[in-house]
Amino acid sequence: MTTALSEALRLTDRINRIEPSATMAVVAEADKLRAQGIDVVDFGAGEPHFSTPQHIKDAAIAAIQSNFTKYTAVPGTAELRDAIVHRHAIDFDSDYRREEAIAATGGKNALFNAIQVLVDHGDEVILPVPYWVSFKDIVRYAGGECVLLHTEEAEGFRVTAESVSRLITSRTKAIILNSPSNPSGAVMSPGDLAEIVRLASERGIWVLSDECYVYLNYAGKNFSVGSLREFKERIVVLGSLSKTYAMTGWRLGYALGPSGVIAAMAKLQSQSTSNPTSIVQKAAVAALKGPQECVEKMRREYIELRDHVVKGLRAIPGVTCTMPQGAFYAYPNISAFHGRNGIKSASDIAGKLLREAHVATVPGEGFGTRDHIRVSYATTKAELDRGLERMRKFFAAL
Ligand SMILES: Cc1ncc(COP(=O)(O)O)c(C=O)c1O
Repeated sequence: MTTALSEALRLTDRINRIEPSATMAVVAEADKLRAQGIDVVDFGAGEPHFSTPQHIKDAAIAAIQSNFTKYTAVPGTAELRDAIVHRHAIDFDSDYRREEAIAATGGKNALFNAIQVLVDHGDEVILPVPYWVSFKDIVRYAGGECVLLHTEEAEGFRVTAESVSRLITSRTKAIILNSPSNPSGAVMSPGDLAEIVRLASERGIWVLSDECYVYLNYAGKNFSVGSLREFKERIVVLGSLSKTYAMTGWRLGYALGPSGVIAAMAKLQSQSTSNPTSIVQKAAVAALKGPQECVEKMRREYIELRDHVVKGLRAIPGVTCTMPQGAFYAYPNISAFHGRNGIKSASDIAGKLLREAHVATVPGEGFGTRDHIRVSYATTKAELDRGLERMRKFFAAL
């Protein structure tokens, strides 16, 4: 929106502080091309191509049939909060209680509420680069300021306690971690995570750990900072069923943290979205308490798709790509093409790639880097091949 138009509408300062999500913008542009009948290969969307497992769908249908269609408690039913706690305890050896868990309308909603209750005007929040698009804008909406922590691609975008400590000031309120990472696929080692949590705890800083890809880890054992019991008074874990169980459209996320923070989040939720959809809560209980083989099956398929796409990207002259260790994104470096044909940035490349080769990707600027594009490989091998072939031709002609 132009400044003149937003002034005419007299919108608030806080809405003018944020940008629309860069990933959503790509989805919208790709949709526009599709509406014109153009065949777009979509590497832009950040969502599983798998269908939601049948037993989860059945639980939702049963919820409708049994008229479980009324308001529930704002932070979710006791059954769901217990299921969140139970799943986390089994998988990560954590010791959360029901009062330390809240269900929300998607992981993004949980993250938004956590930041609104913890970050005040003028607070600083340390944010490693590359970052997921929404972190920066949600912090800004709360009136906070992001302090960017630059990382090295050659070191796998590693974040260490030492690099965090250099950015801590008297105004630092929190650090946001996201392992496995969207967009880079980097996975932080349990050792690095534990050291950062220890540092944050010593310095009185919150750790907001976005673990929505925690089950899509190809590097080692799944690890949640929520397992670091001695530091749990400084940790808020943000989780989501979206990626783990292929449930992006259902909108069910959660937070685990100190009961005072969770109660504050419930207060905010009570004045905004209220409870997550009742039917979805029943489906979520089935997901969390039911068989987990579906999660492992999807994980194994993602590994194959990752190997396939990275091999294809690396075969394109001029493109380099670090091996992502988790999530379902590759983050190829396309800086060799800067300066060719008037191209200055990743946005120029992603825009041209979409308009001319009809392949949707997300430019790195949305994630804080200008040398990369994000390629989501949550699609079929055949679709990856179609897109890679178009990319090969596109980059060869640049
Ligand atoms: C890092 C990260 N956090 C949170 C989310 C939010 O997921 P949802 O709101 O669907 O649970 C996403 C979705 O793409 C994500 O990539």
